[in-house]
Amino acid sequence: MAVIADRCPQIRVTVVDLNAARIAAWNDADLSRLPVYEPGLDAVVGRCRGRNLFFSTAVEEAIAGADMVFLSVNTPTKTKGLGAGQASDLRWIEASARQVAACAQGHTIVVEKSTLPVRTAETVKAILGAVPAAPDGGNGKTFSVLSNPEFLAEGSAIGDLEQPDRVLIGGEDPAAIEALAGIYGNWVPADKILRTNLWSSELSKLTANAFLAQRISSINSIAAFCEATGADVQEVARAIGSDSRIGPKFLQAGPGFGGSCFQKDILNLVYLCGHYGLHEVAAYWQSVVELNTWQQHRIARLVVNRLFGTVTGKRIALLGFAFKADTNDTREAPAIRIAKDLLEEGAQIAIYDPKVSAQQMQSDLGCAPAPSDQRAVDLSGEGSWLACGSVAEAVRGADAAVILTEWQEYRQLNWQELAAVMRQPAWLFDARAIADAEAVRRAGLRLWRVGDGQQG
Ligand code: UDX
Repeated sequence: MAVIADRCPQIRVTVVDLNAARIAAWNDADLSRLPVYEPGLDAVVGRCRGRNLFFSTAVEEAIAGADMVFLSVNTPTKTKGLGAGQASDLRWIEASARQVAACAQGHTIVVEKSTLPVRTAETVKAILGAVPAAPDGGNGKTFSVLSNPEFLAEGSAIGDLEQPDRVLIGGEDPAAIEALAGIYGNWVPADKILRTNLWSSELSKLTANAFLAQRISSINSIAAFCEATGADVQEVARAIGSDSRIGPKFLQAGPGFGGSCFQKDILNLVYLCGHYGLHEVAAYWQSVVELNTWQQHRIARLVVNRLFGTVTGKRIALLGFAFKADTNDTREAPAIRIAKDLLEEGAQIAIYDPKVSAQQMQSDLGCAPAPSDQRAVDLSGEGSWLACGSVAEAVRGADAAVILTEWQEYRQLNWQELAAVMRQPAWLFDARAIADAEAVRRAGLRLWRVGDGQQG
């Protein structure tokens, strides 16, 4: 929305939320304290806020005055009831559609921005169409529903929005489609604005995420195979990525995909396929998530195996907790499952991530940190964790360091200095294949690198 306001000064954009604290944070004079950390977002908000971009809790008033309403609410995976663990929880979409139905005036274009299960627009249309007539017989309200999914990735969101590969608009009403296309037309070349029917647009978003996630599970499956056979997944990725039909992107083996979208969207796809009786299709996509979970357990298991079959009482440094570099987001981060497995084995985990707070780690791990950094070997079998302020602090006294996020600073570490403060024989487990293998070996560390059949 901020980018639309930035690129279209003639359009007034009002972002509304019932959560007053969140709106206050978006209105904070100090732009470094906006509720979402995203490179470049502060500058965009700084340029537009108070000009044609407003953040407000006056939801009803904003809807009443709008020609177009974007529904951008949360659609998490259901945790209970029908479809628990797979289906999307649509309670917020339904609630906002009802509010739009109640407050809109005249003709309103309603745009689904959240990632939604295919055919959600049917629900939205049914709710909007059920507005009771006013006492005088008519209510003068009409609606057109569009689907306009968002393909931005965290960390590069502003660039993705300013120069999108494509903008997708699904709908049935040509005038509404052209109204939205006209907005994007202010900065997106015409040939990149795709028009489809409603259902194709909704399904394209789930499919794009499923395909991207599938590439990661595919390369991670081959990484395990490389380790077993003496091949190197980086070389294999380069070789297959040079085939223009395959392409080089999204072929980086690692600890598995995390983030708020991939797993949620695939599970939703699986649920929908099951709903339509396509059980083989559901099983196919389910396997992408299963391989991802397996990769995370596999990494935890191999750390234990290389450390003589036990990590009880051993200090293990986890370098990185965010699900990818350049974000403080830890949703579905591989580090969570790997850390929990190691805690279960009785390890003393020392975590360093340049952006993730100790409170966030505590909420993800579901247990409080150790009261102090005692460094005494604890053979009681109880795992514990603590957050550290630097790599050097995390690895001090550790038997192993495990790189889980591809932060730039981990690429240039002085392994000679770090190895000197670790307990020997010490290991580096490089689950992102970013450390300088030569330097690590020269420092006397044992090395395991994801997908490298020549190491460890
Ligand atoms: C993703 C999609 O890219 C985006 O289009 C969609 O709108 C939302 O979901 P995001 O979750 O921000 O975006 O992150 P992305 O960069 O796609 O990475 C997802 C996960 O895959 C991360 O954990 C990342 O480390 C992992 N990944 C990515 C790999 O392991 N290897 C790769 O080659 C690429």
